[in-house]
Amino acid sequence: MLWGATVADGEERESVGAEFLELVREIIDIAGKPNVSDFFPVLSRFDLQGLVKRSRGPAQRMDRMFDRIINQRVKMDKGSERNGEDFLQVLLKVKDEDEKTPLSMNHVKALLLDMVLGGTDTCLNTIEFAMAEVINKPEIMKRAQQELDKVVGKNNIVEESHITKLPYILSIMKETLRLHPTLPLLIPRRPSETTVIGGYTIPKDSKVFINVWAIHRNPNVWENPLEFNPDRFLDKSYDFSGNDYSYFPFGSGRRICTGMAMADRIVLYNLATFLHSFDWKIGKGEKVKLEEKFGIVLKLKYPLVATPVLRLSDPSLYV
Ligand code: HEM
Repeated sequence: MLWGATVADGEERESVGAEFLELVREIIDIAGKPNVSDFFPVLSRFDLQGLVKRSRGPAQRMDRMFDRIINQRVKMDKGSERNGEDFLQVLLKVKDEDEKTPLSMNHVKALLLDMVLGGTDTCLNTIEFAMAEVINKPEIMKRAQQELDKVVGKNNIVEESHITKLPYILSIMKETLRLHPTLPLLIPRRPSETTVIGGYTIPKDSKVFINVWAIHRNPNVWENPLEFNPDRFLDKSYDFSGNDYSYFPFGSGRRICTGMAMADRIVLYNLATFLHSFDWKIGKGEKVKLEEKFGIVLKLKYPLVATPVLRLSDPSLYV
């Protein structure tokens, strides 16, 4: 979606994707480390933990990759009709043709980086948590598969058009994001004025973290908050709009996740496909370990390992 129509095909596209994923993880890891300079800015020039130094390498590698992809796109576009095939193409078109939106090449790169950082690990971790929870609860897996067999059918594969007709799969996604919100502290805020909220004074320029992870487990709002139970989202109409401060996994307000609509499609489509096309097995009597590794992005402490078993009637559907 971002630059797929630019990077030639097959192998090259995959290797660029894999390299990006590795870089994204490295950058998120460094960005998520507590940095003493944030608390004592006067120390920042000493870079006591070496975080700035460590970030230089991955940042430069990312920049070089963007340069390579952008140059390839620009070359492809010379003399040909642009038709908005991927996000990069659209950005370049805005940069060159839209006078009201003055974009520099650095803006284009920053926007690409935003999408890559915001959209990769967030969706992957949500899908992994959802699968881990469902594999541990065979009755939930069964209900999800019943819904999929009814809507998609066993002689068919999941298409994007199906995902709006799968309320139970959607409630699995919502419940996963309640218990395991991918950005457990959202993205920090910094008030531009000193403000009093609920009797607490929040000084101007302080860094404020909102603990959505804890809010989603508040026993005054959620019955049996530690239980994974998608049914609670079939009854209640919680959505991702961020208007209800009991449930806002995509944040709230002006800085709410910009990729929400895409996240919805990516997570639902993959989850539906995994559950519809396969049964998932783990060792007899075993349970998937659900411990979380806390960080700026929430992950499973132990990566999920399970064996897929084909379940569709026609093997050619897997080709
Ligand atoms: C399940 C998947 C995802 C989750 C749970 C998620 C969650 C979030 C959260 C909690 C925030 C901070 C909002 C706030 O502090 O109020 C955020 C911001 C953001 N997200 Fe996502 N996100 C997901 C997928 C994506 C995707 C697919 C993209 C892009 C393609 C994306 C792009 C962004 C961007 C650019 C921001 C920063 C917005 C800003 O600061 O104005 N996210 N996301």
